[in-house]
Amino acid sequence: MKEEDLLKLINPEKMPRHIAIIMDGNGRWAKQQGLLRVMGHKAGIEAIKDIITMCSDIGIQALTLYAFSVENWHRPKIEINSLMKLLKIFLRNEINELQRKNVKVMAIGRIQELPLFAQQEIYNAIDKTKNNTGLILNLALNYSGRVDILEAVRKIIEKYESSGLNLKEFDEESFSSFLYTSGLPEPDLLIRTSGEYRLSNFMLWQLAYTELWITDILWPDFRKIHLLKAILDYQKRKRRFGKIHEGEECSENE
Ligand code: FPP
Repeated sequence: MKEEDLLKLINPEKMPRHIAIIMDGNGRWAKQQGLLRVMGHKAGIEAIKDIITMCSDIGIQALTLYAFSVENWHRPKIEINSLMKLLKIFLRNEINELQRKNVKVMAIGRIQELPLFAQQEIYNAIDKTKNNTGLILNLALNYSGRVDILEAVRKIIEKYESSGLNLKEFDEESFSSFLYTSGLPEPDLLIRTSGEYRLSNFMLWQLAYTELWITDILWPDFRKIHLLKAILDYQKRKRRFGKIHEGEECSENE
């Protein structure tokens, strides 16, 4: 089916509010083409642009992209440097387009540990787009789901010690407000490319009830049409959040 036909099938009433993506397979894509790994990451930027455009066009509230994990520091220095440079180039080249699309840039992770030039670019993009009201583009950079939780715990203890916290009334919502993603809805849909069935330390708390969509497509080949397929599949799912649906009660004899 073509993109425009898929678009017609999308139910605007059942749109995921927040889509999170583990963009995997850049290295394998490059290898298949006989190119250096970094060329896979470069090609991945085309996919990023395509997906931002579609998310913005169909009114998705937030898109979180897992661009660099804390574990990625173990990659060769040359690859890390290239990724940081690509991030800078992406933000620099795309800032006007992001503004035009009313996209608000956000970042989660230990941004303060990234190279200064990358930090500057990120903070500049965040600042320039801070009043935008369209799609929230949330970049997970130097991100770890466990560190996210750990840092929240530290902040909670600090707050408890400095100003006190009513721990009896401290619930999941209160805990969430200490995570990097505070203020964002939890992801409704997680997409992972390149056929790996792992969470890879991504948004461990936030993904508790998220619907997963895994595809063999390598990230640089991922396009709007694949996103639409993922959304259509999501819209067919019955989200029960651990409950049962009305009419599904079973009698005691069953
Ligand atoms: C995973 O592929 C991808 C990454 C670790 C980085 C993703 C980064 C980009 C798409 C470009 C830069 C980001 C921005 C926001 C401009 P992999 O290298 O693990 O692939 P492999 O598993 O096939 O080796």
